[in-house]
Amino acid sequence: MPAQQHASIYQQMGGAEGVRAFVETFCQTIETTEVGRPVLLLHLRGHGMAHARMEQFNFFSGLFGGPRLYAEKWGHSNVRQIHAHVQLGEAEVSAWLSCMAITLDKLDYPAALKQQLMDNFTPMARLLINQ
Ligand code: HEM
Repeated sequence: MPAQQHASIYQQMGGAEGVRAFVETFCQTIETTEVGRPVLLLHLRGHGMAHARMEQFNFFSGLFGGPRLYAEKWGHSNVRQIHAHVQLGEAEVSAWLSCMAITLDKLDYPAALKQQLMDNFTPMARLLINQ
């Protein structure tokens, strides 16, 4: 099997720079699209988008197989715990997943990687519904 098939998502994205671009595209989608509005409002009620950019980079770095920056900083990387203070229903989770789908449309990743990401994010996001 070619070595590429064993490459982590982190490597496939192009390392730290690639994860940074992924987070930036996602955050801009939240900030500029109609579907992203409820997600944006929730973030603005919390620590804001600058904070989200920083911590999502730390989190996704580890999730994708790179340095586990979020866990090193906060002692865990439990997504339910991370969102425990945010009221998330079906509508908010669907909006977040739509923003992620738009993000992947904008990025020049192989189709298999896009599919793998959505296959992972969909159940992970649905687990966050807490109301
Ligand atoms: C599996 C999918 C998800 C991942 C990996 C994820 C990841 C993260 C991370 C790493 C943070 C920063 C946490 C921190 O400040 O320490 C965060 C914050 C946040 N997430 Fe998510 N998230 C996901 C799904 C969602 C969904 C579905 C929503 C629904 C709108 C959402 C809304 C928020 C909000 C509003 C904040 C900011 C909270 C605050 O600033 O107080 N997330 N998320």
